[in-house]
Amino acid sequence: MKKYLIKTFGCQMNEHDSEKISWILESIGYEQAESQEEADIIIFNTCAVRKSAEDRVLGQIGELKALKREKPDLILSICGCMMQREDIVEYITSKHKHVDIIFGTNNIHKLPQLINRYEKTGQTVVDIVEENREIDESIEANRKYSFKSFVNIMYGCDNFCTYCIVPYTRGRERSREPENIIAEIEKLASTGCKEVTLLGQNVNSYGKTLDRDYSFANLIEDIHKIDGIKRIRFMTSHPKDISDDLIKLYGKLDKLCDHLHLPVQSGSNKILKAMNRKYTREDYLKIIDRVRAVNPDISITTDIIVGFPGETEEDFEDTLDLVRKVGFDSAFTFLYSVREGTPAAKMEDQIDMEVKNDRFQRLMEVLHPFGLEFNKKYLGKEVEILVEEVSKNNEKVLTGRTTSGKLVHFEGDKSLIGELVDVKITKAKTFTLEGELVK
Ligand code: 5AD
Ligand code: SF4
Repeated sequence: MKKYLIKTFGCQMNEHDSEKISWILESIGYEQAESQEEADIIIFNTCAVRKSAEDRVLGQIGELKALKREKPDLILSICGCMMQREDIVEYITSKHKHVDIIFGTNNIHKLPQLINRYEKTGQTVVDIVEENREIDESIEANRKYSFKSFVNIMYGCDNFCTYCIVPYTRGRERSREPENIIAEIEKLASTGCKEVTLLGQNVNSYGKTLDRDYSFANLIEDIHKIDGIKRIRFMTSHPKDISDDLIKLYGKLDKLCDHLHLPVQSGSNKILKAMNRKYTREDYLKIIDRVRAVNPDISITTDIIVGFPGETEEDFEDTLDLVRKVGFDSAFTFLYSVREGTPAAKMEDQIDMEVKNDRFQRLMEVLHPFGLEFNKKYLGKEVEILVEEVSKNNEKVLTGRTTSGKLVHFEGDKSLIGELVDVKITKAKTFTLEGELVK
């Protein structure tokens, strides 16, 4: 049997695309390789959101030249968001001639054809342009876990935040038909899946491209009815589209997890406007108040970019102030990264790296105490955990997550993986909790 290895960079959307690629390869007779030396095909599923991720991919591709020389039959392939950029494809086809197959984010389903074409001709195959805008419902996925699964509900993004490359790499927003989503989740539930994470770049605008009146809140209510599903999560929300109907569900549906990831990006109205986010800091704070009024235990997490072009010390102070006002359970923080082709790349007043790094550090200092403070509230409490895996550092220790998304470590037998168990929290740290299994 031929063997494959997939290296995934970037977000959950990419992780799930890799699960689909894995399913496609296994359906044409490949099996998973343990190492890159053992693989007959290596696929890099890439991310273009920040330059650092791109540099890592290019570095690792370069390192594979030697392996390809040793094993000329090895097929090297690259896909994902980076491949939607002409300059990168040109760079790879001219500087990394050992890459055999390049395909785009919309052409995953064509992989068997592309492998075939490469094997017949020995020529580099490039297939980026999508021919068919319809959503392909025939592809399944080899999911990493049986008890928790990613489910795409929509593809693409129409928001064009001025810093972001995603609308150019993932194309226009399209929602999947609710029947297809429900059928997929019913099938998952019938094979033991307990938790679903609904994926989309902007899940709050789900339904806009459907030919009927059906919203994200409607979809969650319908998923809530599916037997066997115990937890519903989603990623990612955009504050401008969050609806009252969705917020109300937090007080109504017990399967909807006590967690909202709501990227704010900046606390300065001037910067939010320049980012084309279409809300103000006041709008954002109001949303948080409404959500907490409905569910006081909810954990709120966010994404923040520091050093967007034109960000003054005062703008940055506004971000720190918003962080203090909201009190985020945790946040993904990013240094602004110039993405060629986006409006922000051409903006004047790009911020020096030194200033960006300094602000990043100061942001951490404000964020981290909140993480610890919120985690301390769990001390002595019994919480329900979906057990995910054995700890990487200690085989007696299991890890899992609370409904609010907190990572918990506790001693237990690995037969509990995939189960919902009660754990009493005994120790709180900034990023994790520790506890004891309640018998
Ligand atoms: N530079 C830095 N961070 C970015 N993000 C998106 N584009 C950029 C960029 N050019 C961040 C945003 C987004 C997250 C997925 O990545 O915070 O929410
Ligand atoms: Fe990028 Fe904005 Fe779309 Fe998110 S909503 S993918 S940040 S353009």
